[in-house]
Amino acid sequence: MPPPRHSRDLFNGLPGRTGQRCLNQRSDFRSDTVTLPTEAMRRAMASAPLGDDVLDGDPTVARLEARVAEWLGKERAIFVPTGTMANQCALGAWTRSGDEIVCEESAHVLLWEGGALGANHGVQAVTLREPRGAFDPQDLQRLVRTPSIHSPRTALFCVEQSTMGSGSTVGGHVIPLENLEGVRAVGRANGVPVHMDGARLANAVVASGVAADRFAALADSVAVCFSKGLGAPVGSAVAGDGDFVERARVVRKRLGGWMRQAGMLAAAALYGLDRHVERLAQDHALARRLAEVVDGVPGLDAPPGEVETNIVCTRVDPQAARDVDAAELARALDARGVSVLTLEPHSIRFVTHMGVGSEDVERVAGALAEIFP
Ligand SMILES: Cc1ncc(COP(=O)(O)O)c(C=O)c1O
Repeated sequence: MPPPRHSRDLFNGLPGRTGQRCLNQRSDFRSDTVTLPTEAMRRAMASAPLGDDVLDGDPTVARLEARVAEWLGKERAIFVPTGTMANQCALGAWTRSGDEIVCEESAHVLLWEGGALGANHGVQAVTLREPRGAFDPQDLQRLVRTPSIHSPRTALFCVEQSTMGSGSTVGGHVIPLENLEGVRAVGRANGVPVHMDGARLANAVVASGVAADRFAALADSVAVCFSKGLGAPVGSAVAGDGDFVERARVVRKRLGGWMRQAGMLAAAALYGLDRHVERLAQDHALARRLAEVVDGVPGLDAPPGEVETNIVCTRVDPQAARDVDAAELARALDARGVSVLTLEPHSIRFVTHMGVGSEDVERVAGALAEIFP
């Protein structure tokens, strides 16, 4: 079935944009990082009490760190500029040079942090390929090295929550609690801590109804981002017990991530945590509707029933899609005002967020109808 052209009915009940549209007036589905801070968030930033966080402490940063620790049920949290640095602080805190970590083949820590594992910490990785991002505990156990002078030490398991997984048709999966319990049990049995890259943990919380601290309890450290679905311009945090956070603070210092009057940024993060978590359900509903539109095109494959959060990946099969491949489709959408990312050679990714609404999904439907008449 070709997607309906500009059918208003298709979008009944779905919200319009709640945030500002991105600056270039396009329907920007590349990432939830493109959101702009709302006027109310900007006001919260402008009026935040500030101090020098390195010298005497910044009261708004302190408030955010306490709030994140409470949200995640951890002893302490520290504020850092990016999700990459949050992960890197955890890696530096858990590993030493020559160690090995286990992560999913497409993990952010492995593929998208500029080789930081090796460059920053002298650490290597072994991987598992899991389309839904959830490790089979038995596979994980097999990868744990027997202590020996010949082998690296297995120092850390890294999970992502939510996760795109490898080669998944639809991204944005929530790893179930039972699976995380299995990972944690293997870790405990072998003395290996678990780090959770929870850049989109809030999406997993809203999609599953499971509280953040229940997920976080199954990891020894958790990184979270405020600059994705929560709509802050900058900011992430990493949380764990007091000893972990002390080590992570040293790594943050060495990476140059300790900021001065960072309360202006922490205020945006606090605002996002207070006001933008529940609304993620709208992004998820919009993503499902987007998947319906995309899945209706022969050669595109995005089963709406599998969309759990705000990420929709679709494979593009040129044989079924009138010889259009993923890169051509991305260009054709781009020419019609719709921005997407080509992540793998055969797939494109849409991410919903505060800066897109039903009118933008409608634009996708119209564009697809033109590209595949
Ligand atoms: C799963 C995951 N972890 C970490 C990050 C890193 O966040 P940042 O871009 O703030 O460094 C991202 C960014 O998109 C991500 O998707």
